[in-house]
Amino acid sequence: MDKLIVNHSMNLKGDIRVSGAKNAALPIVCASLLTADQLVLKNVPQLKDIYTLEKLLGGMGVKIDFSGDVMSFNAAEVTSLVAPYEFVKTMRASVLVLGPLVARFGYAEVSLPGGCAIGARPVDQHIKGLEAMGAEIVIEHGYIKAKASRLKGARIVMDMVTVTGTENLLMAAVLADGVTILENSAREPEVTDLAHCLIKMGAKIDGVGTDTLVVTGVEKLHGCEHSVVADRIEAGTFAVAAAITQGDLTLTHARPDTMGAIIEKLIRSGATVTEGNDFLRVAMSTRPQSVDIKTLPYPAFPTDMQAQFMTLNCVADGASYMTETIFENRYMHVPELCRMGAKIDVDGNIAMIRGVTQLHGAEVMATDLRASASLVLAGMYAEGQTKVDRIYHLDRGYEHIEHKLNNVGANIVRVKG
Ligand code: EPZ
Repeated sequence: MDKLIVNHSMNLKGDIRVSGAKNAALPIVCASLLTADQLVLKNVPQLKDIYTLEKLLGGMGVKIDFSGDVMSFNAAEVTSLVAPYEFVKTMRASVLVLGPLVARFGYAEVSLPGGCAIGARPVDQHIKGLEAMGAEIVIEHGYIKAKASRLKGARIVMDMVTVTGTENLLMAAVLADGVTILENSAREPEVTDLAHCLIKMGAKIDGVGTDTLVVTGVEKLHGCEHSVVADRIEAGTFAVAAAITQGDLTLTHARPDTMGAIIEKLIRSGATVTEGNDFLRVAMSTRPQSVDIKTLPYPAFPTDMQAQFMTLNCVADGASYMTETIFENRYMHVPELCRMGAKIDVDGNIAMIRGVTQLHGAEVMATDLRASASLVLAGMYAEGQTKVDRIYHLDRGYEHIEHKLNNVGANIVRVKG
């Protein structure tokens, strides 16, 4: 398994180009199943999760070409309606083929996603919504088997805000017979980007960006060309890198308008933030101030930035409370950070951090995608060398992270394992 050797790297300076959002690209790739026409996606990040989905859809008969950041799809001849466990266990977002398959072909067999490090992450809302639209669903041998002659519009109130739940049901509703109202929908920018792409394909969706999506089903969708929205979490991660290393980074091809809660906390920590339509500049000249954080659905502070801001709080002036309300086990980076000298106490879903002025390099282990990023951030601040193991987690969500950081002054070496 590859490792990253992260050496002490302060005062990062320069520009970093932000990639397309993983969590927007994944559902939109699955939307290619909704049409027999050509779908062309630009600004697609070259990430492990995208390659996994490419293999899954390829195995279903979708013709795919992926060169540079352009991915084109043709699902005119889908030969299989099954998403096998081997794919879903490695990438839970594979469950996003469920809605499109049932909507266009009237049948789908999708493995239940297994457990996940950060929480149980069930898909009961995905299933409840499809049943409300008339799908007959049985769960057997670990697979969701769903069939429907044609889905019918329905009023669905989700029990909690679920990003992929909203996305799966949105993709099911666009070809349903009648009107579907999705209440308590997720409003994450990645959901909005999927909706924008579906509308370009001919879908009729009102309320985009709100917590109530109203979808009027159509007979069929056509192809389109769509550029994936910038990754606000990748951008946020590099913004924290600027703050923690007391540097000055300009993040280009970004979408600051989707990063309000992140920017607000960066400013509260003492960073100077300048933003334009497609760039964000973050500069820090002193030790950061500690900031309290509570993760909630968009537009509030994103859970996917919790680990990164914890690292910032670890070296900030003062104490801070962080509350994780989305996932039940998203503090696995805490023991690793403590091994580097951080002072963090966790009680349930609340972490209390007392800022220290020094972290010491250590051998640490990545446990999930964003936890890995928090360890890289800590390694750049720490004295000495930090060896981050199991960085396959990192490669799922960050495109060439060590190259992007080394280009602005970091000293990170990948060791092939
Ligand atoms: C998406 O996961 C993202 N992944 C996650 O990003 C992100 O952390 C999460 O949304 C929250 O923003 C993708 O978009 C591919 P949820 P998702 O359904 O959709 C519970 C990353 O780092 N729930 O919004 O799986 C669930 O257990 C990843 O890029 C149910 O109980 O998350 C959780 O507690 C990590 N039943 C909460 O809702 C359901 O049917 C929110 O989950 C669905 C969800």
